[in-house]
Amino acid sequence: MESLLRNWNGESVIIRFDRPSGAWIIIAIHSTFLGPAIGGTRMKSYPNFKAALEDALQLAASMTYKFAAADFPSGGGKAVIALPSSFDIHERPSLLRHYGTLLKQLGGLFQAGPDVGTSPADMDIIAETGAPFVFCRTPEKGGAGGSGKWTALGVFHGMQAVCKQLFDNESLRERVVMVQGTGSVGHPLIELLLKDGAEVLFSEVNQTAIQHFRDKLKLPFVPPKRVYDTPCDIFAPCALGGILNKDTIPRLKCTAIAGAANNQLAEPTDAVRLMKRNILYAPDFIISIGGAMAIIGIERMGWSTDEARAKVNSIKQTMLRVFKLAKDDHITTDAAAKRIVDSRLSRTESK
Ligand code: PHE
Repeated sequence: MESLLRNWNGESVIIRFDRPSGAWIIIAIHSTFLGPAIGGTRMKSYPNFKAALEDALQLAASMTYKFAAADFPSGGGKAVIALPSSFDIHERPSLLRHYGTLLKQLGGLFQAGPDVGTSPADMDIIAETGAPFVFCRTPEKGGAGGSGKWTALGVFHGMQAVCKQLFDNESLRERVVMVQGTGSVGHPLIELLLKDGAEVLFSEVNQTAIQHFRDKLKLPFVPPKRVYDTPCDIFAPCALGGILNKDTIPRLKCTAIAGAANNQLAEPTDAVRLMKRNILYAPDFIISIGGAMAIIGIERMGWSTDEARAKVNSIKQTMLRVFKLAKDDHITTDAAAKRIVDSRLSRTESK
């Protein structure tokens, strides 16, 4: 645990135990360099406390990269609420309020939105405690609602950049896209893809969602164990991270990877593995900023939805820049994207 923290290049970690539920609340502040640390609230159970802490640290860093790459004036952080395996669902509202109280005490040092396992309705409960800067409340409570559709729009523009790069035509028409996870981002992404004429395959573990997409929309269903062996043009990971690794990469039968999941690479060398296999990888921290960017813009900076759309569209240009840099310098797209991030962070430093 100590080496985990020592090797992390972030600023601070706040940890609180919620005794009634047995959940751990972990808030990792990675960087406040470009602005206050902003990030989502991930709520799930982990095999142990260390795994939860590690996830929080990595996800917080990824938020710093996202904002820096998009030239957005926010720092990066993340909250992980690690539920015990025996979690009593009735404890959920009081756990959320406990988290809200902690955010309030922090006075804006960390500003929270939703993430895997939390929703706009949860943000309403958190904000009721008087916690400053809680993003994505429901429209009834004065918020802009969920960020998933905005993230999906950004992923879609990232995919257009992929198609431009590979086929010199940004249309998704007749491209075969496999979407892994049909949740708050995967679902609206599928709709955008179908509208543009793509052929969509999907993979999912939730039975209700499987029924919706397979039986109602008649989309081909890929069972989870076959995801990494199924041929497609673009593979879009929109579930959890760590899925691109030494075991899955050799099996992949796609031309490109472009999806919303955070921290898709299990380790940095996986970017090299993908490059060697000639698979074009759209770095997750470039392509998945749409949600946070649009919501912060609308709720905090007074953007109209049209302005938000235009900003989210800029992901396409950033992605093309990443691809060009990677090609020109013979480096991975991940390394190219990190170079842009580093230059933003150091450029501001020297101001
Ligand atoms: N879950 C979002 C992400 O990972 C975080 C976020 C959404 C933060 C909306 C603020 C507002 O990018």
